[in-house]
Amino acid sequence: MNATRAAFAADVRAGLSLPQKQLPARWLYDDVGSALFEAICALPEYGLTRADERILIRHADEILACAGEVWRVAELGSGTGRKTRVMLEAAARLGPVSYLPIDVSRAALERCEREMSGLANVSVRSLETDYLDGLRAIERAGPGRLLVLFLGSSIGNFDQAAALAFLRDVRAALAPGDLLLLGADLVKAPELLREAYDDPIGLTAAFNRNVLARINRELEGAFNVRAFAHEVRYDAAAQRVEMHLRATSRQEALIGAAGLRVTLEAGETIWTESSYKFRLADLERLARDSGFAVTARWCDAEWPFVEMLLRVQA
Ligand code: AVJ
Repeated sequence: MNATRAAFAADVRAGLSLPQKQLPARWLYDDVGSALFEAICALPEYGLTRADERILIRHADEILACAGEVWRVAELGSGTGRKTRVMLEAAARLGPVSYLPIDVSRAALERCEREMSGLANVSVRSLETDYLDGLRAIERAGPGRLLVLFLGSSIGNFDQAAALAFLRDVRAALAPGDLLLLGADLVKAPELLREAYDDPIGLTAAFNRNVLARINRELEGAFNVRAFAHEVRYDAAAQRVEMHLRATSRQEALIGAAGLRVTLEAGETIWTESSYKFRLADLERLARDSGFAVTARWCDAEWPFVEMLLRVQA
């Protein structure tokens, strides 16, 4: 069993043994899940990615001007690379820059390299590893101010404690003067969030159900995927959207490679993702508490979303 599959099996065993069954959101993104997520980004109801993109397209030069001289741009989870391209073009107009995408998915890195190759003044070196190991390797590799991109509100998948711990670890891997550009989705009307996460054509439902299909494919699972309904909840007090899979009737499934037999009563759910939404003050506090100073921020008017430029405090 390779390391990824072993980690998947361990998470499935642990998560499905809890009173409220849950699965870490990272397992949503195999090849099928990543393709579905990309399709979700094109949905009119899912304004998040376009807002992120609009801000970067409009303000890339200004963001770079605020950052000061940047030699190296690292990215945590490169995605399709579309948003990154405008940032790199802006950086490259000021001088040569090396781009260092960090991702655990080889496929994502290859696509990213393809996307950025041919940009004048940009050299690409990808790191197939997890975010923090990648950042540590980069920081050791040489001098030159580093700008780290963490876009698309991926920070929203962490709960508050985990987000703080993660940003502290990022901070610890960086040097004074380095920068983090953090993209985060802001609190907005619950109706908008519901439409965004429970879209009328069912792409998000497919994205959610895919995690059970993936268990079947990779861990010799026997879930009846059709017996699970996509459910979205908005917890206004916690400022988070939750995705669940609800068993529409009693389910029993063997998961061979996890050595587990799971039972769900009719109506019971598996919690598959949290997407936290932020207020500007939450993010500013999070930044300060993890050792960053807020240098500047840009918001989108159409779909509340913010790009915050944070600087490592000496
Ligand atoms: C990629 C984590 C930002 O939480 O909005 C999209 C994933 N989940 N639709 C998000 C997602 C359901 C997305 N992030």
